[in-house]
Amino acid sequence: MTCSQNRSILVTLPLLLLILETSPPVKCQTALSLAETKHSCMALKAEFGEGCVCKQTKRYGQPECCCMGWQVTQMPVNLTADVGYLYLHNTSISEVTSNFFDAYPSIRELEISDSVHLEHFDGSSLTVLPKLRKLSVTKCPNLREISGKLLVNNTRIQTVILKSNGLRTMPSLRMTDAHHVLVDRIDLSGNKIKFIGDSKVRNVKA
Ligand SMILES: *[C@@H]1O[C@H](CO)[C@@H](O)[C@H](O)[C@H]1NC(C)=O
Ligand SMILES: *[C@@H]1O[C@H](CO)[C@@H](O)[C@H](O)[C@H]1NC(C)=O
Ligand SMILES: *[C@@H]1O[C@H](CO)[C@@H](O)[C@H](O)[C@H]1NC(C)=O
Repeated sequence: MTCSQNRSILVTLPLLLLILETSPPVKCQTALSLAETKHSCMALKAEFGEGCVCKQTKRYGQPECCCMGWQVTQMPVNLTADVGYLYLHNTSISEVTSNFFDAYPSIRELEISDSVHLEHFDGSSLTVLPKLRKLSVTKCPNLREISGKLLVNNTRIQTVILKSNGLRTMPSLRMTDAHHVLVDRIDLSGNKIKFIGDSKVRNVKA
């Protein structure tokens, strides 16, 4: 009796592992829809038009901050330190430098959109964000290059959207065995990428 019970455990265990490995990432970790994520930006637009606001949200109990408009010329130093969701919409920031996010290590979702001034993004800026799940940089027509290796230290990354920018070269995406989840979306559409070198995408679990 004990023997056959033991055997059934031995048989089902590999099956269970297989299911865990092949099932898509758990629902609660799925990136939020655009309408939900842009919430603080909409409030800012309605109330002030330009600048930065931070609001406490129920999502993971972390605040979200939105910066918007050309009067935002650089990454503000006075946002809530534990900001979990950061949106930079239509700012005049021209460069995301390597130390850009150092003051805000709790960021889980980062969205940069509609920024004609943005020209360069240093991928090493993301290494200080171990909780990052979603990276979205869209509609930045003058963003030609994302330098450095993206994702190396972002072991929880799930969604990478780099859509409708001016990228001419493929960003270097690097994942390691330390990455916990499968990436459910990588979108590089609407750029000017002509060639994808085979050294560019390494170990990406998508
Ligand atoms: C940050 O400081 C600027 C002025 O330097 C102010 O206009 C802005 O409202 C502040 N933002 C936050 C989120 O406190
Ligand atoms: C961006 O903001 C500037 C003013 O700060 C405004 O003139 C322009 O229309 C805005 N562009 C978009 C795409 O919202
Ligand atoms: C990568 O993340 C870990 C924490 O998860 C941190 O200790 C380490 O300094 C990070 N690496 C870099 C290059 O920032």
